[in-house]
Amino acid sequence: MKHLLKLLDLSAEEITEILNLADQLKYEQKHGIEHHHLKGKTLGMIFAKASTRTRVSFETGMYQLGGYPMYLSANDMQIGRGEPIQDTARVLSRYLDGIMIRTFEQKQVEDLAEYGSIPIINALTDFAHPCQVLADLMTIRERKGSLEGLQVCYIGDGNNMANSIIVGCLKMGMHVAVACPDNYRPHEDVLEFAKAYPGFKLTNSPKEAAKGADVIFTDVWASMGQEGEAEERKKAFAGYQVNQELLALAKPDAMVQHCLPAHRGEEITAEVFEGHADEIFEEAENRLHAQKAVLVTLMKNK
Ligand code: CP
Ligand code: NVA
Repeated sequence: MKHLLKLLDLSAEEITEILNLADQLKYEQKHGIEHHHLKGKTLGMIFAKASTRTRVSFETGMYQLGGYPMYLSANDMQIGRGEPIQDTARVLSRYLDGIMIRTFEQKQVEDLAEYGSIPIINALTDFAHPCQVLADLMTIRERKGSLEGLQVCYIGDGNNMANSIIVGCLKMGMHVAVACPDNYRPHEDVLEFAKAYPGFKLTNSPKEAAKGADVIFTDVWASMGQEGEAEERKKAFAGYQVNQELLALAKPDAMVQHCLPAHRGEEITAEVFEGHADEIFEEAENRLHAQKAVLVTLMKNK
């Protein structure tokens, strides 16, 4: 594994290795066992969108691994003024040992990897959020013991989270039901991938998707960059809320996962959110451990 651009590129074995290493690093951190695997290495962190969890977990993670995280705001770089990503990739590859990037187009991330010569990590694009879903899989496996055969349901926008959940969960042997309005379906490439899995279902009905679920996922109705569509989206997603009534259709011990930030009263009720806060904040914590595993996998011995 040279990069983490999207989960479509990873095998189930590679995902399992990252989850195993993440569990180990979490254990070591909780027990004060130092793990400076990236001593002397620098990670550039390019942000073209806002972030709380991703920035803080990557920065802290690099520090805990003995390396140095460098925050780079895309607006303050020359890419913000039109310098091609191909040139940025070749320049940064001469200073840094790895790059984490959060941006709009998936192509920018793929181009960084193509033109640069160091590991590239996708920290969210409009297409995918692989780091988040690795943390989600880690959280589900911690709580349920294993992933194979679990029934996962995603309610809402067919966005970056939906795309990564579908790919990550199907690859790990889980069944996935997605409920979204017709105009807000997951990406065509993801639907094409999912076609080969009999355990995949796409529907307009949140009730149908939630039935018998072990895990219920949701995400915001308007993602970063879609703020102008917020009102139109509120109407389109009105029936796609994770509430107590919907949760009653899932298994009695169903988990709820939300990548955060959450909008109470929109995609999730305050009642469901607070009732499952333990699982949701464990999921947020696991960003740190899962990403440290990704960093070590990609950057150690490079
Ligand atoms: N879930 C997530 O990526 O959060 P941030 O946008 O705060 O980084
Ligand atoms: N779908 C959301 C996820 C935020 C972590 C967005 O892209 O804004």
